[in-house]
Amino acid sequence: MTETEIKKGLAGVVVDYTAVSKVNPETNSLLYRGYPVQELAATQPFEAVAYLLWHGELPTEAQLAELRAEERRHRSLAENVKAAIDLLPLDSHPMDEVRTAVSVIGASDVTGGGSVLDASGSPEENLARSIRLYAALPAIVAYGQRRRRALDVVEPRDDLDYSANFLWMTFGEEPEEIVVDAFNRSMILYAEHSFNASTFTARVITSTLSDLYSAVTGAIGALKGPLHGGANEAVLHIMSEIGSADNVVPWLDRALAEKRKIMGFGHRVYKKGDSRVPTMKAALDTLIEHYGRQDVAELYAKLESEFVSRKGIYPNLDYPSGPAYNLIGFDTLTFTPLFIASRVTGWTAHIMEQAASNALIRPLSAYNGVDERHIAGYVPDAATL
Ligand code: SDX
Repeated sequence: MTETEIKKGLAGVVVDYTAVSKVNPETNSLLYRGYPVQELAATQPFEAVAYLLWHGELPTEAQLAELRAEERRHRSLAENVKAAIDLLPLDSHPMDEVRTAVSVIGASDVTGGGSVLDASGSPEENLARSIRLYAALPAIVAYGQRRRRALDVVEPRDDLDYSANFLWMTFGEEPEEIVVDAFNRSMILYAEHSFNASTFTARVITSTLSDLYSAVTGAIGALKGPLHGGANEAVLHIMSEIGSADNVVPWLDRALAEKRKIMGFGHRVYKKGDSRVPTMKAALDTLIEHYGRQDVAELYAKLESEFVSRKGIYPNLDYPSGPAYNLIGFDTLTFTPLFIASRVTGWTAHIMEQAASNALIRPLSAYNGVDERHIAGYVPDAATL
């Protein structure tokens, strides 16, 4: 095996087909089941995009009403999930809290046959599981933030749709329309992105015929890393380090001298900008105006222009979404759990697609360890050869 045949990080390797989404770096575009994500973000509630990812078509009014009713039936924080989260240290990372909560939900779902032979579940069971996870995650994420602030659980409200209810359960206040709209757009933009590391993790786990909850739990573990979903949290950490626009140049001089990765910039697939950034930046701009935070606009613009001019590396979705979630009032540690709440729709769409036409995912490796050697004095037993 020559060095050139090794594709480190599977960079540029096409491993399978998917009909869920199309990422096109040539045109800097992203389609969910054929629809440009910008059009979906501008016109659809997140519930309709979840339906689209799962079913391949936008819902009729009746189908949307049915999904909304089912989502409302599973919004409340389950007692056993709350108890499990309460067992964790208060300073556990919220990604670990959510990963634990999904594990508890999975371990408590005994609808399967109980043996590993039934683990993968039927398409109908997996769609029902997907909707239940999608419905339950806002309560889990909201509780995590409120627990850290010593605040009680806020019960869901049936008169609010998904995004408004998510904000209500987190902050306990009637959410403003402009905030609901910006949040709804972020949920749509984060929902799906072909074979990113966490989605591919979910597909690998599914390919062994393991269960949907195990696949989602594994995907959460992959998403946590700052090279992937953890970047939106990391963007706020670096913005806090920099402080204000007039400190960008010296901060960047030091960071680049230390060879640091500047979080929120760069992408494995997009090389001339992330197709989702303009839509999320427009949502951020509405929040900056709404909250009167021109300082955020100045810091954002200065860091972007400095880094792009020096390295020619462009912002990804995490760069505008971090400050947007900060302005809305989410704790920085809550940012990547918000990514989970959205991406669970894409993950589960891929899990069901993988299960429908499965092949065990098991790549090869090229050995570059020590040559074969033997234990001194060992006499082989002919039966073991
Ligand atoms: C997401 O895959 C997806 O679709 C993911 C995602 C999704 O929706 O699921 O889009 C979500 O994960 C977005 C990415 C969030 N991560 C970050 O913002 C972390 C910072 N970004 C980098 O770590 C990096 O850009 C990656 C990991 C995102 C992509 O890196 P690649 O494609 O593996 O490229 P690379 O790391 O090999 O970088 C090539 C060069 C290197 O320089 P050299 O070592 O060759 O001199 O560019 C440099 C890198 O050091 N570089 C950066 C950089 N990104 C690339 N240098 C500083 N800061 C950066 N952000």
